[in-house]
Amino acid sequence: MTHDTVLSRETRTVVSPSNVVFGVGAVDQIGDYASLHGERVLLIATEQIFDIHGERVLSILEDAGIETMVYTDVRPDPTVENIEEAHALWADRDCDVILTFGGGSSIDTGKGVGILAANDGEIRDFGVDKAGYEGVPNPTPPLIAVNTTAGTGSEATRSVVVSDESTSTKFLIVSQNVVPDVAIEDPELSVSLPRSHTAFTGIDALTHAIEAYVSVHSYSIPDGFAEEAMKRIARSLPVAWANGDDLDARADMLVGQLQAGQAFTNSSVALVHGMARPLGAQLHIPHGLVNALILPYVVEFSAMAAPEKYATVARILGAADDDDRTRAAADEAADAVLQLCEDLSLTGYLDDFGEIPTREEYLDVVDEMTQDAIDSGSPDNNPRKPTTEEIRDLYLTLYDDALAPDSPRRS
Ligand SMILES: [Fe+2]
Repeated sequence: MTHDTVLSRETRTVVSPSNVVFGVGAVDQIGDYASLHGERVLLIATEQIFDIHGERVLSILEDAGIETMVYTDVRPDPTVENIEEAHALWADRDCDVILTFGGGSSIDTGKGVGILAANDGEIRDFGVDKAGYEGVPNPTPPLIAVNTTAGTGSEATRSVVVSDESTSTKFLIVSQNVVPDVAIEDPELSVSLPRSHTAFTGIDALTHAIEAYVSVHSYSIPDGFAEEAMKRIARSLPVAWANGDDLDARADMLVGQLQAGQAFTNSSVALVHGMARPLGAQLHIPHGLVNALILPYVVEFSAMAAPEKYATVARILGAADDDDRTRAAADEAADAVLQLCEDLSLTGYLDDFGEIPTREEYLDVVDEMTQDAIDSGSPDNNPRKPTTEEIRDLYLTLYDDALAPDSPRRS
């Protein structure tokens, strides 16, 4: 079945923010959009981002007659506590608009606040493992997401990822009712992104595009987003990583990561993300870096099940051309992804995040990680659906090949 025939047999709903404001200077419009929706804004950001951009943001909002409350305790991989604290401020100060400033961590905290503001229950109740997909009954209050990374694409998606520190796990919430109303994409804001996080977030975006493209839920509309996203990321991520001030590359990455977000939220992510959430929660390393570590192994594992799609991935990444036969081109996809990760020195960044568990310690948690991956539902979206044993084997291969201090990819 070709992908165009999906829409001649089934109905799909394409979700998107109501407005996407794009380009240099887009951030200056936050006052206009905030006043369209209310007059008391809860601004959510990380301390680091607020230090860089806070003064300008507060000034724009003040000029628009907006009163602003600020929550800046968001940490990378935001926690249940982050959402509860920010929601307490929202309720206490009677706010009417949520404005997030930053990458996925700030945006997901804002989505979490919106869920609690509009629905009864605790944030854990809305995870897909408890409430299922589309398990948020009521839409969030007006939500404006100013994106400063490239990126999670969270400003355009139905997804929220929350860390539960009490269990060292992450849980996923998926609902159309959390898609932001307005996404602000200003490439100048992403210039401040450090080189390491340019690599992490860029590979996260590439992973979104590839996973959406090969997903069993893929069809023509998200496929278009995914192909375009892969082209932009392949040509501009190495440039933005090497020279963060290159505004053309930053803008191209911002478009690419938005398209990757639109791709996966209208198709799905798959095995990489299913495995990345538990591993990231255990190792406390950034989401994009975890994806970068896992992606080549999952591509290698999966290529046989969707050879035409993976052949296109390899061609877009420059590892095969149109003359190569489909199967041969698909076989190049894993090495192409690995090469890009190596070009960005991604494995080297592991040294910045403390001790990796010993193999014995890793073995103690691998069964639990495997079960968490399965429970998230994401592995079911993979073109080659893995068994429990295959996921466990992938985790072990990853450890021996890329995580262990003496592993080949780290030496
Ligand atoms: Fe992701």
